[in-house]
Amino acid sequence: MTKAVKDQTSTYRAIIAGYGSFVPAKRLTNDDLSKMVDTSDEWITTRTGIKVRHITNDNETTAFLAAEAAKRALKTANLSPSELDIIIVGTITPEMVFPSTASFVQRQLKAQKAWVFDLAAACSGFIYGVAISQQFLQSGRYKNALVIGAETLTKITNWKDRTSCILFGDGAGAVVLQRADDGRRGVIYSMMGADGQRWEALNCQAYGSRYPAGKKLNDPDKIYMEIKGREVYQQAVRRIVESVTECMEKCGLTNDDIAMVISHQMNARIIESAAKRLKLPDEKVFLNISEYGNTSAASVPIAFDDCVRSGRVKRGDIVIFVAFGAGLTWGASVFEF
Ligand code: UT7
Repeated sequence: MTKAVKDQTSTYRAIIAGYGSFVPAKRLTNDDLSKMVDTSDEWITTRTGIKVRHITNDNETTAFLAAEAAKRALKTANLSPSELDIIIVGTITPEMVFPSTASFVQRQLKAQKAWVFDLAAACSGFIYGVAISQQFLQSGRYKNALVIGAETLTKITNWKDRTSCILFGDGAGAVVLQRADDGRRGVIYSMMGADGQRWEALNCQAYGSRYPAGKKLNDPDKIYMEIKGREVYQQAVRRIVESVTECMEKCGLTNDDIAMVISHQMNARIIESAAKRLKLPDEKVFLNISEYGNTSAASVPIAFDDCVRSGRVKRGDIVIFVAFGAGLTWGASVFEF
């Protein structure tokens, strides 16, 4: 049981009632990539921990992945889509410029009552979505929120750039957050942060208002993701450590109280380095990047689904979600499952 949290004034909590994930069937291995760019399974494995990533075909879109993950989360929650009040899709690879990916998900699920929007906080999109829904549920105004992280990053990947194309994969994960008043289970504390000064570390510049689709690009590669790997690496370790530390301090928790830290899966070395600084033992840090690569906003809910299904997290456990990504953005949530 956690100690009282200072900023928890409501009697309501947002509990995780359902969870689910979906990845496309097609797999791209490190050996496949070594035939496309100058790289090797050995380099990718030792530098990132990634072995395989799942990639969409032309017919598989972000809304499709999101809706499949959502159906699974609704099933574990035993909830009808008609009971949803809010649908948030964390994504930076949306279905279209507009309307939102969440609109397509609402349509596919037939969740007529829900109000819906996309949230562009990159790899932190799912965590931001959890924190926002938590506020609406805790206020007592709404009952059921569906928070999804869904990405088709391989559609904005430059397959000639070996520094970035080895990192990313496609997929979606979702949770159903539900208002509960037992005052025990659920989200205990959430925090978010951002540093817009460092936007250049990780970006995809076209097509937006700066580089509109109708205008010729000086550099045709601006339609793809660009990363400054080293800078992202250092910032990621720092912000993950700070975010987890803040959660633990605000909730009066020690490492002994935590069952699992589920980090955004961006690079196994980044996660291991942050875990070492936090003095967390290996068994309390979940890693599944070897199978999926970096799926941005989808990675935490995919990891959570894997974690629960493999029995590594059980009802009653205290868990921390943490993420870091483009923006720069970061955030974390601590909850009793
Ligand atoms: O979710 C947030 C998004 N995630 C990220 O942006 C990733 C964060 N950064 C990282 O994960 C790591 O920085 C990388 C995996 C991208 C790179 O690992 P690194 O240990 O930081 O390598 P590096 O960039 O310092 O490059 C080391 C060497 C360079 O060669 P030289 O200059 O030492 O001769 C690179 O050219 O490795 C070379 N290199 C590669 N070699 C084989 C870069 N990419 C590759 C590659 N295969 N795919």
